[in-house]
Amino acid sequence: MLKGKKIIVGITGGIAAYKIPLLIRLLKKEGAEVQVIMTPFAKEFVTPLTLSVVSEKPVLSDYYVKDDGSWHSHVELGLWADAFLLAPLTANTMAKMAAGIADNFLLTVVLSARCPVFFAPTMDLDMFQHPTVQQNIQQLIRLGYHYIEPAEGELASGLKGKGRMKEPEVLLEALTRFFSGERAFAGKKVMVTAGPTHEPIDPVRFIGNSSSGKMGWAIARAFARQGADVRLIMGPTDIQTDFPGIQTLSVTTAAEMEKACKQVFPETDIAVMAAAVADFTPAETASEKIKKANGPDVIHLKPTADILAGLGKMKRKDQILAGFALETEQELEHAKEKLKKKNLDLIVLNSLRDKGAGFGTDTNKITVITADEMVKTYPLKTKDAVAEDILSVIKNLMEK
Ligand code: CTP
Repeated sequence: MLKGKKIIVGITGGIAAYKIPLLIRLLKKEGAEVQVIMTPFAKEFVTPLTLSVVSEKPVLSDYYVKDDGSWHSHVELGLWADAFLLAPLTANTMAKMAAGIADNFLLTVVLSARCPVFFAPTMDLDMFQHPTVQQNIQQLIRLGYHYIEPAEGELASGLKGKGRMKEPEVLLEALTRFFSGERAFAGKKVMVTAGPTHEPIDPVRFIGNSSSGKMGWAIARAFARQGADVRLIMGPTDIQTDFPGIQTLSVTTAAEMEKACKQVFPETDIAVMAAAVADFTPAETASEKIKKANGPDVIHLKPTADILAGLGKMKRKDQILAGFALETEQELEHAKEKLKKKNLDLIVLNSLRDKGAGFGTDTNKITVITADEMVKTYPLKTKDAVAEDILSVIKNLMEK
């Protein structure tokens, strides 16, 4: 998969830099062309000589060569690369990347890169957990960078926790996986729903739920990365849905979501319904704010349309329709019932009994059930990794 691929490996000043020569060996063995760029501080951890020997190219760190005045073009390098991997990535360089700062050569190439960028942050556990570090990771994910989560284990400080760089073999796998799946959904039109719906009681109050939209957002990004043309139908959330290949339609109520879905669905090849749609909406919405003195004791509700079931009825043979099931008991039976009743090709089951699964978290634990009765349970993973798993099931269904 990596044969002939041009890869920039950006190294910053972390102790895990000593593992990068091994990574470069692995990349070269796969047939990749590797250009190393280091920050000045990274040279304290691994020498440019070692890196240039294994990569078979001079290592870059400065804008120009002091003696002869020749200079390195960050723009050309940014255009040259098929992928850019930053490993190990320190909290310092990551913060600069998140803020668009370009005060060394490596950072200017990051800003010039048009290729996919992968980043593997590495640091001590308390630094890693600091809210600013976590915010910067989220910011880079929002920018479309591929996050390679650090591993848990023994750290250079002697402490144990999350912050170790993933081993070179795993970093290689991340790149290989990306290039192998790269075009899997090219030319496909995909619809994804995400987030909650808000059902208005009056102009200022609503009935809603605590869906963050993160799962649907991760699915939409995973499809876009693999070449799909994505329409994301998104209920009210805080997510900034700016991402290449994704067109977002913002909706508020279940009725608006239904209208948008019915319009978009006939033109789609694949639809994944991850939104937490309200099952009920107020029977009447007051046109003015309800005053405390006139407050009703009871709010009458009426059911909303089941959007997914509606699409199940419209579905053509050439379309793939996936739903979610959020359950708290008899999970598998309920999910299987929903799969049949709503005429789905697959259903993704979340159990609220699993720690780290469901609303608001950055992780999820799923079981996927297909119409041909394949049942597969996955371990707890980040929502991005869960999205990749869902896509690989859909890819298998497409090939059948
Ligand atoms: N769904 C939908 N429209 C609704 C309700 C749900 O399209 N009005 C979709 C969700 O996006 C999800 C699936 O249906 O993909 C299952 O949602 P869930 O809340 O688990 O199930 P319900 O069908 O609402 O059934 P119940 O509340 O009885 O579990």
